[in-house]
Amino acid sequence: MPTDPTTHLLSAFESPDYQPPLLPSVATELLELSGWAEVDFEKVIALLEKDPLLAGRVLQIAQSPLYPSKSKILSLKHAVVRMGLRSLVDVFFEATLKLKIFKAPGYEWPMAELQRHSTATAYVTRLVCRYAKVDGEHAFLCGLLHDVGIAASLITLAEKRKGPDLPDLGRVWPAIFAAHEKASEILAARWKLPVEIQRVLGHHHDPSVDGQVDPVAAAVCVAECVSSHLGAGIGNETEASTPVVAQSAIGLGDAELRLLIVEARDLIAQIG
Ligand SMILES: [Fe+2]
Ligand SMILES: [Fe+2]
Repeated sequence: MPTDPTTHLLSAFESPDYQPPLLPSVATELLELSGWAEVDFEKVIALLEKDPLLAGRVLQIAQSPLYPSKSKILSLKHAVVRMGLRSLVDVFFEATLKLKIFKAPGYEWPMAELQRHSTATAYVTRLVCRYAKVDGEHAFLCGLLHDVGIAASLITLAEKRKGPDLPDLGRVWPAIFAAHEKASEILAARWKLPVEIQRVLGHHHDPSVDGQVDPVAAAVCVAECVSSHLGAGIGNETEASTPVVAQSAIGLGDAELRLLIVEARDLIAQIG
């Protein structure tokens, strides 16, 4: 009996033969370093400089209005000292996803939309955690990576069928959408990202995990609805979300949400 397209996609990701898009080892090394109490900044800079293209993009983001600074950031060393390692890891992942992951020949337009949605959701998730006082060490990365399963699906389709044989996005979208939360979780596991991130990615539309709300998953759920509301959405994605339940679960009041939306609008306007 033929399997339905969603099951087919998920089996492809779960197969031991699946080759996930390559996440530079520098990304996971940096993430690991960021958890250390004391970090050698020279070691961090040496790691960053392994990939000059990525290092250049990191510097560009660090110099953008998204990271306001009293004095202009002139070098990677300056960026590490000024921003701190935690923010630098976030910026590194942002640059990596843009340059290396959100790419699928033939699906350039949806990938660009997905990249914008993911970046916007990352910044807004950080904002939601601040407003709702959620302890979200990995908040930005969870927002950035929440829909990476959609990217993985588009990459898989583009690798199998090229040019005129590429499936029409409208036809494959329902299967991609139905599979994407689980696909994001699988990808995070294959990239050996922390289990907290894997859990959030797998529950970002309905943040209940075993009967308990995961606060960061709830923050991502609210953030992606805010991003969509402000014109940085993707497809009909928010129809599957439960933002009111998520908002109440993290104690974010309506008045705070209105203030947050004003701040989020400015942030999203800065995203390229
Ligand atoms: Fe999303
Ligand atoms: Fe999603």
